[in-house]
Amino acid sequence: MDNAILQELYDYYKEDHSLSQSELIIAMLTRIQETVGYVSKDVQEEVARLTGVNRGYVAAIIKNLPHLHAQAFRHEIRVCISDRCKARGGSDLLKKLQKLLKIKPGQVTKDGVFLLNTEYCMHNCMHGPNIKIDGRIYENVQISQLPQLLEKLRH
Ligand code: FES
Repeated sequence: MDNAILQELYDYYKEDHSLSQSELIIAMLTRIQETVGYVSKDVQEEVARLTGVNRGYVAAIIKNLPHLHAQAFRHEIRVCISDRCKARGGSDLLKKLQKLLKIKPGQVTKDGVFLLNTEYCMHNCMHGPNIKIDGRIYENVQISQLPQLLEKLRH
């Protein structure tokens, strides 16, 4: 996304005087996310420049809002880490996924295929442990299923 488009986006949201500075930044980041699928470091830099904040501030917003991502990826895997899923093996699923993907929650794999995240309760507690892949719930997931599941998603 080039700087001229970011400037246009900024001008558009700046017109809305009801937005606070952080609301304006979030609106811009959300639109960027929807358009290109992530908010690169260069784009973060430009958003920070336009809005008069430092890039760390923009990066912190991205880190704290689950719909915003700093890197491109093809599939998002979310693991439920609420009590009921934990008690049914959710923590072990998360550990195994971290090991298989070699990343921690909030990170994207080196090949750019997977983003790993956690979520508090997917409202499917009776069928846990639950994970979500690209928004779809997979229930009663067993550790032994993970390698095959990842392999399918890679291709
Ligand atoms: S605790 Fe996992 S879905 Fe509710």
